[in-house]
Amino acid sequence: MFTELELASLAEKTFVDRVDYHLQLDSTNNRALELARQHPAGNIQTLVLAEKQTAGRGRGQNQWWSSEGTLTFSLLLGCNALGLPVKLWPMISLSTGLAVAEAIEQFLPGTTAQVKWPNDVYLNDRKVSGILAESSNSRQGYLILGIGINVNNSFDGAPFEVSEKAASLCAIAQCTISEAELLVAVLQRLEHQLQVLGTDPHQLHKTWSKRCILAGEQIAVVTEHSSLEGICQGIDSDGALLLDTATGSQRCLSGVVQRVIFGKLGSAESNKFPEKT
Ligand code: BTN
Repeated sequence: MFTELELASLAEKTFVDRVDYHLQLDSTNNRALELARQHPAGNIQTLVLAEKQTAGRGRGQNQWWSSEGTLTFSLLLGCNALGLPVKLWPMISLSTGLAVAEAIEQFLPGTTAQVKWPNDVYLNDRKVSGILAESSNSRQGYLILGIGINVNNSFDGAPFEVSEKAASLCAIAQCTISEAELLVAVLQRLEHQLQVLGTDPHQLHKTWSKRCILAGEQIAVVTEHSSLEGICQGIDSDGALLLDTATGSQRCLSGVVQRVIFGKLGSAESNKFPEKT
């Protein structure tokens, strides 16, 4: 549970100008969306933080599973506050993955956090964080960056498809990690990464590709209508995933990544599970 002091320190030590704190929400992204509709665009830099989510959302139709000790928050950023051309917005989720990876390493010295396109963060081959970026298409635009980090939670009671692939930082570090301090670190690294993106966008793909967990792996990128298989070569300067396929190099702009193990597709997602129908 965040203390009054910790909540105050979030606005003092980071770029956010307002903290919207809740003991329980369905989804911090839903709440950020609601705030965006009330205060269209402008300079808004609001952090929505919830101790508990009852209907966390993952990418696509997936749900995001979390329990006590998971850090769940969303950033609502107005286009003016971002100060980045809209064409760079798709890259922001990649920058966010880097920021989370860098912050995690501050708390687990000696480890290397990796990123999985488009923006999951892995430690010791286990998913420790997922990011859901959503934006408006209108001119008065905003961006919502929803971030879930497995910090001090256990996976008791989690669906098998979650517990077999995810891990919490406290289990890896074998000690409790301050969620408030980690959150400050994530926001500070994000501010830095957004500055880098604004001044030298081409640096992003080099830094990101160095951390790419799938580099050199045989993978498939699956969309609703197609599946493209090849060896992952990192990302290009536009943030597209590069695949070396039988017919040459291909760029993937969207899709779900799956590892190909002995010619078979394996699932490579965690903390998320298909929506119940
Ligand atoms: C994924 O792995 O598919 C992305 C998961 C994103 C989860 C976070 S938790 C905070 C924010 N609110 C949500 O409903 N989802 C994101």
